Order: sequence, then structure tokens, then C-alpha cells
Amino acid sequence: MLPYARHSVDEKDIGAVVEVLRSDWLTTGPTVDRFEEAFAAWVGARHAVVLSSGTAALHAATFAAAVGPGDEAITTALTFAASANCILYQGARPVFADVEPDTLNIEHAQVEAKITANTKAIIPVDYTGQPADLDEIKEIARRHKLVVIEDAAHALGAIYKQRRIGTLADMTVFSAHPVKHITTGEGGIVTTNNPELARRVRMFRNHGITTEARERHGKGRWFYEMVALGYNYRLTDIQCALGLAQLEKLEGWLERRASIANRYNEEFTGMPEVELPVVRPDRTSAWHLYVIRLNLDKLRVGRAEMFDALYAENIGVNVHYIPVPWHPYYRKLGYERGGWPVAEDAYNRLISLPMFAAMSNRDIADVIEAVRKVISAYRL
Ligand SMILES: Cc1ncc(COP(=O)(O)O)c(C=O)c1O
Repeated sequence: MLPYARHSVDEKDIGAVVEVLRSDWLTTGPTVDRFEEAFAAWVGARHAVVLSSGTAALHAATFAAAVGPGDEAITTALTFAASANCILYQGARPVFADVEPDTLNIEHAQVEAKITANTKAIIPVDYTGQPADLDEIKEIARRHKLVVIEDAAHALGAIYKQRRIGTLADMTVFSAHPVKHITTGEGGIVTTNNPELARRVRMFRNHGITTEARERHGKGRWFYEMVALGYNYRLTDIQCALGLAQLEKLEGWLERRASIANRYNEEFTGMPEVELPVVRPDRTSAWHLYVIRLNLDKLRVGRAEMFDALYAENIGVNVHYIPVPWHPYYRKLGYERGGWPVAEDAYNRLISLPMFAAMSNRDIADVIEAVRKVISAYRL
């Protein structure tokens, strides 16, 4: 079975991890600092703070943005639950906006329409690796005095109007889960140019404890104070060693992902049964996912049958995503189906094809052949 995504770990990565295992530090030592510096430099941000997962990073960013009980934050309906759960963790209410029909990224006009006196933040997601409409979203945020937390879990290495993702929003959140562009096993990163936001994220990942050298100096070397309710969201030196080694290969992996996407585009263009991903001309996708939408009126079966047929061909397809407000937990909170027609229609028709840097040319050919075979078997 060809998976839809898979990490790449080589002997150099393993060597880097083993070296840390033999050192004096397993967690929160020099390798955390080195990974943070290297990551910040790679995206061009002043600060990078690593955390135990992308979800923890979103939670810390939402805390840093001072989102709290009684507040609202706006995100997209077509995303992973974590993009909205971070709002709930802070006791605030997620408000879901629908997506653009071409890119499936959050529709900025809807964001503005959903702003109330309680709105504190906007959390756009760079769906599949393509940056959302960041200029428009930032302009809306400026007018309404909101914080923008960009969920770039899919978008490490993506480019928006000639600038790399990582400094365009107030905070940008990345994930280093094994299906993503680089991995630390589990891991997340918040990047920002704002030192105060970086300080708040850092404090939150360490129990809400301040570690300012100045205070320790004045009150004794042992001194620390817990000033907010934080968590243990730290990433280990062991994981950061893997992250550092992975970061060196990122550029090449991004190129490979783009070439796989080009190959799929070439092969599937002109097939009336599928709608291909659309990337706007002013941005470059990091191609975390390659998502097609089926034109169900041209097929004899639905998405479920197409999905199963591809699986039967040993192609590990996936679906990204069930709209977040459809989940039972969200339904219990009062969200109802039908409020996000574009996202909901897309969900009923979409399939993610395998996309990862280590795919061989044979793997790519297998996917193309399976898609052709299944479509010709079911076309009307
Ligand atoms: C859009 C989005 N946001 C956040 C996350 C959470 O990241 P993590 O799995 O590192 O906690 C994911 C993970 O899949 C994601 O796809």
C-alpha cells in the first residue's frame, strides 16, 4: 500500500539523534536553541519557538493573542480540528467561515462579515500548502484590531507575493508531524517578528513560568515565578536534533513535491471527471497535499466508492477534511450543518492523492495509472 504521506529519515538524521542521546542534554538544552535559530533563519523570522506539537503551538499562539472566555476567533470550516480546538482550549468560541470555490482557502469577505464586538483573532489556514489571502486578511485585522495567527501546518516553504511564509501574520504556526514537510516525530513551531508574542509563547510552553535572567539576577539564581497558567509543551533536544537534520533537506523536498504536483497536473488536465487544485498566480504552494475534487455528475458512483476503488489498487488515498463544525463534539456545542456550502460540497467530492518527497517515479506512475483505471471504470 502506497501511503498518502510518509516521512523521510536517513542515516544522517539517525546519527544526529544518537549524538544527542549520548550528550548531557535530552530536553531543553543547546539543540533546542540551535533548531529555533536555524528555523527562524530559514523562514526569515526574528523569533521561532518550538513546542511539542503543531496543536500545542496553535494553543500557545491563541494564548499569546490574549484570546479568552467570551471572545471569538474566526477560522475556516475546511481544516483539521486543531485549527479550531485551540480557540476552545482558551475558553473562546470558534466562528467558521466558508472557503473560496477555487483554492478552498478561507474566504476573506466572509471573515469580515463574521466579525463581532467579541472577535479577537483570525486563524486562516494555508490549505494543502497554498497561502490564504494574507494581504486582505491582514487589512481586515488592521481595521478591526485583531490578531492574525496563520495556521501554516501545511505550508512550510510556501511563498506569498515573493515572500516566504513565516513573518506575514502576527504569528505563524507550523507542524513537524511525520506527514509534514520536515518532522521531529511530533512537534510544532511558532514564528513571529514580535518579541512580546514570542515571550508569551515561550512562557506558555513552560508552565507559564518566567525565566527572565534579569529577575533571577536580582532575586537569586534559584528564583522563578509562575505568572500565567501554562503547560508543559516543550520539545526535546532529541527531537530538535532530528529537526535540524531534516531542515537541511527541506529545499530539495519542496522541489520534489512541486514536481510531483506538476506531473499529476499534466496527467489529469483535460479529464472532465476531476477538478484539479488551483494555485493563484501570486503564490507558490508547499504542496503538503494534492487534493482533487470529483465531478460526481460525470461518474456512476460517489466519492466513497471511488475512494474504496483506489484503495483496492493499493493507493492510500485520504480525505482532508470533514468540515470541523460537522464533528459530534462541535454539533453538541450548537454548530449545525449547512452553514458552509462551498466547504461542505468540497468535502463530499474531495480525495487526497499520495504526496510526499520520498515517492519514487514508479509510485507516481502507479497513482496516475490507478486514477485513470478507476475513472474509466466508473465514468458515465
Ligand atoms: C491545518 C492543521 N493545523 C494544525 C495541525 C496540528 O498539528 P499537529 O499534528 O502537529 O499537532 C494539523 C495537523 O495535521 C493541521 O493539518
